[in-house]
Amino acid sequence: MNGGLREYSPSNFNVLFKNYTLLPYFAIYPGPNAWFPVPNKSILLIMGGGIAAYKSLELVRRLAERGIRSRAILTKAGAQFVTPLSVSALTGEKVYSDLFSLTDEAEMGHIQLSRSADLVVVAPATADLMAKMAGGLANDLASTTLLATDKKVLMAPAMNVRMWESPSVRRNRAILEKDGVLFVGPNEGEMACGEFGPGRMAEPHEIAAAIEQALGADGLLKGVTALVTAGPTREPVDPVRFLANHSSGKQGYAIAEALVAAGADTTLISGPVGLTAPPGVTLKRVTTAQEMLAACEAALPADVLVMAAAVADWRPDIAANSKIKKSVDRVVPLIKLVENPDILAILARGPRRPRLVIGFAAETDDVVQNAVAKRTRKGADWIIANDVSANEIGESVMGGDRNRIHLVSEAGIEDWPDMTKAEVGARLAARIAEKLKGAA
Ligand code: C5P
Repeated sequence: MNGGLREYSPSNFNVLFKNYTLLPYFAIYPGPNAWFPVPNKSILLIMGGGIAAYKSLELVRRLAERGIRSRAILTKAGAQFVTPLSVSALTGEKVYSDLFSLTDEAEMGHIQLSRSADLVVVAPATADLMAKMAGGLANDLASTTLLATDKKVLMAPAMNVRMWESPSVRRNRAILEKDGVLFVGPNEGEMACGEFGPGRMAEPHEIAAAIEQALGADGLLKGVTALVTAGPTREPVDPVRFLANHSSGKQGYAIAEALVAAGADTTLISGPVGLTAPPGVTLKRVTTAQEMLAACEAALPADVLVMAAAVADWRPDIAANSKIKKSVDRVVPLIKLVENPDILAILARGPRRPRLVIGFAAETDDVVQNAVAKRTRKGADWIIANDVSANEIGESVMGGDRNRIHLVSEAGIEDWPDMTKAEVGARLAARIAEKLKGAA
């Protein structure tokens, strides 16, 4: 293996060559920075003083996963909540805070700083920062930058519910909206101060989606309809017992989130998981494989199908109507299993086949070879193969936040490096856009 260039080992090659002579000897993987929906974009992040500032650190990570770089201004009040060192460690850049710093100004003047990014994001946007921008004040680096910028500004407000609902904050918000400032949030919920209502800063993934939208990533899949499945299915044995698997749904949810961020009209059919629907996604919850098939069929037609669900291969022949009791003579009940419908194969060969059909292959052995065979057997265009056996420190892909996948397509095999599931989602969305554009 050499960077993005995949060569098959002789044993691998024999299997592939014998059965799949059309596959090229190697596939070229364009490198870790290719296929980001918004390549080479950057934001200037102004972090105001609020308890929500810690969420902005997570936002920086989320953006980096999407290939968006951040440079930060930390206000004096902001530095009471997060340290310049942690901001700098995450952005990989110097953090700016002082309008009258000789060294900062010599390096990059505040006017230059205000123009240095594609978008200015204020998170947390405090009542003070909103007031300063609405009134055109320029008495520190953050407010001066906001006044001097020629870029779009996106604000993620965070404040106490009474402050948010106060006449002056409402007035300032109306002025800012009229001036073309974009807003994300605030959300309603319990606040750090113990009160309840609107004022909580939007979650990092929501702000990241708003940033992508503002940067134009949302256009990539505009007009495209996508159907994504995620999570396990549960096959009832009786009213209290079921057969299932360890799928967490995280990868499928991350893919749906990325597709929506890229502008696709996305339906997510989810088995039972403890995740909330990404904003903008139409979520349908199901329990069994048969219900998942019916929900998928009802959601068609779609341009793209991504079957990330870990559908149970078998189900008990009969689900008992009442709880199966332990018998006095301790006879163990026999459960006969029958095969579940193969949703991927049915939809891939059905009359309303999506233009691009993507399946998953979660394997513990011979990951790539099995995925190559699965692609043909199921009639999918692409198979995303991943090794779900635990690594040397006992972490499994199932339930974890990272994934290392191989994309098996008609063109060969791409080995993607280890990355977060959000990053897999973002790259897959960009890859889907590229494929559909090429096919149009
Ligand atoms: O055969 P296997 O379960 O390994 O195939 C995995 C792929 O097929 C996944 O995309 C999964 O969502 C899909 N699948 C399905 N219906 C089944 C079993 C798997 O759609 N009954």
